[in-house]
Formats: sequence, C-alpha cells, structure tokens
Amino acid sequence: MTHVSRLDLVRPDDWHLHLRDGAMLAAVLPFTSAVFGRAIVMPNLVPPARTAAEVAAYRARIVSAVPAGHVFEPLMTCYLTDGTDPADLRAGYAAGAFVAAKLYPAGATTNSDNGVTDMDGLSPVLAAMEEIGMPLLVHGEVTDPAVDIFDREAVFIERVLEPVRRRFPALKVVLEHVTTADGVAYVRDGAGDIAATLTVHHLIINRNALFAGGIRPHYYCLPVAKRERHRLALREAAVSGSPRFFLGTDSAPHLDAAKESACGCAGLFTAPNALECLAQVFEDEGALDRLEGFASLHGPAFYGLAPNPDRIVLVRDPEPQAAPAKVPTPDGTLTVFDPGIPVHWRIEAAPGPQMTP
Ligand code: DOR
Ligand code: ZN
Repeated sequence: MTHVSRLDLVRPDDWHLHLRDGAMLAAVLPFTSAVFGRAIVMPNLVPPARTAAEVAAYRARIVSAVPAGHVFEPLMTCYLTDGTDPADLRAGYAAGAFVAAKLYPAGATTNSDNGVTDMDGLSPVLAAMEEIGMPLLVHGEVTDPAVDIFDREAVFIERVLEPVRRRFPALKVVLEHVTTADGVAYVRDGAGDIAATLTVHHLIINRNALFAGGIRPHYYCLPVAKRERHRLALREAAVSGSPRFFLGTDSAPHLDAAKESACGCAGLFTAPNALECLAQVFEDEGALDRLEGFASLHGPAFYGLAPNPDRIVLVRDPEPQAAPAKVPTPDGTLTVFDPGIPVHWRIEAAPGPQMTP
C-alpha cells in the first residue's frame, strides 16, 4: 500500500463500553464523546441497570455528563437477570429506553453477581427478543470453575451459545469481546444473524503481557488475553472486511488502587487512545482501507442504524506518541492502556469556531 499519512473517516462508534457512574462517569465520558458518535453502554453498575426505568435514569445521567460541544448518543442496554420480565423488556425496547440486552453469566466478570444462573429459565425473555428483533449481547464465558480460564470462551460457545442459537435461530446475537480463534470461526462461519465485537487491546497484547517481568495488573481483563495464535486470528478477523466484526473497545476503567491490589479488578481503560491504537494495528496489517468499515460502518449496519453523518481525521506523525499519562478522578487516578508498540496516529483537532484575538 502507498504511504498514507492522513485518514478521513466516517465518525466511528464504540459498540461495547463501560462508562460507570457519578464522578467516574464524569471523568471518563469526555474521552469517548470527543471521538465516538455513539456507544453501546454496558449496564453492569452496582446495582445493575435492569429495568426500563433504571436504564432510562442511567441514560439521563450520561446525557447530562456529556461536555458542551460534544455530540454523543448513548445506546443503552439492560442487564438480564433470572428475574427479567419479558413485558418490561418489550415495553422498554419499543419506547427506545434500550437497544439491546446484555447476558452476563452470573459470576463471569465484574459486577455480574446478579447475572443469569439459569439459561432455561431465560427462554421467555429470549423468545420475546427473537420476536421483536432485539439483539442479545453475550459475555461468552462459562463460570464452571472446573473449566480452565483460557478455555472458558470456547466452552461457552459449545455449551451455552450454540444450544441457544439452535433454539432461537432468528435471535440477533453479538458475541462480545471475542478473544479466541474458536470465537472468530464461530462468528465468521455461523448461520443466522450473529456478529462479534473486538477490543483494541486484544488485537495488541497476548497473555504474555500479563506476566512480562512481573505481574501486570493493567493488562488484566475478562475475557483474559489468550495465546499468540488467538491474537493473530483476531487481527485477521478485524481486517478481513467481514461486516460481522466491528469495534467494541470494552474500555472498563477501575481506579489504580483497585487494579494494583492482591485481587485486582478486571478491565482496561482504553477510551483515551483506542482509535489511535486501532489505526496503528490496521496500518501494521496493511489494511488502513478497511479501518472505516470496522470502526464506523459494520456496527451501525448490524444494529440497523445509519452511519454517523460527520467525519473524523487521523494524522500520522513521523514520531510515535508518548506513553499515555494517567487520568485523574476525584477518587484517585486511572491508568490508560499502554499498547507497548509505537503508535504514530493521532486525532486531528476538529476545526472549532475561530477565536478573535
Ligand atoms: O475486564 C472486564 N471488565 N471485563 C468485563 O466483562 C467487565 C469489565 C468491567 O466492568 O470492569
Ligand atoms: Zn465489557
């Protein structure tokens, strides 16, 4: 490919994001709303946003935290539990309170204690979702402690996802933050309406990063990074041009004190540099011409939405960017994802109103 130093893209969206609440929401949201037009917002608050009313209230808190001058639309999700009421789900979807529902197997990850324990019991909910065309967003890991943590995605596909999709063949499904070659193959080749989000960090790090010279809590997330052959399969999927794969950063901030602990929380904070790192991945794969599809077009197509009407420009500097600085919050600092590779891309400042001297 000829040397490209400027990329003019349809404004991207983030199809999987944790914005948190309160002071943390105020601290992290501007990084996303400066770059992304929309984001699918995860509902794993404490307590989780389960009902249409709870999700609507959370949405209002997000909207009021968007900085002046940013145009950002949160696309909300509700958190499925063993007690989810199909009638509330139908009503909330029809009213636009949420666009999808999130399935956390109970205990699979951060704030998933109220998640689903009984997949059979969820059948009336899944039947309603299939009927109204509401996407099911899946955290695809089994929680069975007998299953090795690096195998939990592949086993989930076999034990849980495939049976659900056989039973509800018209259900729209997103396998979130896919981390394995098995997950990629399942989504790429499967029948029916299925897609997957890919994070930026899983395209860049493999599981060695967690233990490079010592334990590295800022590379710990769930699903945990896998071995190198899986990372390569994820990169191949991202740059393949298949509309079944699109960007979901899974940016999931935790205070440094909670990460740097004897039992550190899972989650990487990638919102401040996700798009820049992603552009570098696509450059390194010789696939910059596929970046817009992955970041800006495939996601809206899956959700039945129009692409964003405006654009964003990325510029390639000869010198790589410095490692990212920590982000302050009133309760402590947040460490931003350090990709550990040279990242030459930066986002060109939007042309704002001219200042008169
Ligand atoms: O690493 C993760 N962090 N994975 C998840 O599934 C949840 C997320 C969080 O909320 O912190
Ligand atoms: Zn997540």
